Amino acid sequence: MNARLVDLCRIPAPSGNLTPVDCSVLGFPIRRAYYLYDVPGGESRGGHAHIALEQFIVAVAGSFDVVLDDGTTRQTFPLARPFIGLYVPPMLWRELVNFSSGSVGLVFASEHYDEADYIRDYAEFRAWAA
Ligand code: TYD
Repeated sequence: MNARLVDLCRIPAPSGNLTPVDCSVLGFPIRRAYYLYDVPGGESRGGHAHIALEQFIVAVAGSFDVVLDDGTTRQTFPLARPFIGLYVPPMLWRELVNFSSGSVGLVFASEHYDEADYIRDYAEFRAWAA
């Protein structure tokens, strides 16, 4: 599985910390960003794969787990710090689970939104991944 956790730069100051993110860190051009918020505690998101999209996911507040599945193996990546991101390559089924209440998930994406890039049926994903 080519997913990986990435340590991001931290610029500390007595007035608060700052973490910059750019294309050189992500390894792909940022064409879109979105964020998940007001997720009820314990709720899940995701439940799909992307054919071509690359993503980089950061828990900028609170925590949640990203469960990735390549059709054979499942791996859980807990995200709980704003200076650690998860690179998610294409063709991995993902579930985002165990959101803490008040958490915010920031996602950088390599492409604009395109529903045609989604595989939302797990059996169909398994067939693609085989
Ligand atoms: P989805 O990607 O399924 O959310 P999650 O993986 O967090 O559960 O998207 C949920 C809805 O939002 C779906 O109707 C598509 C829409 N959407 C957009 O319109 N633009 C976007 O950039 C994203 C990510 C989703």
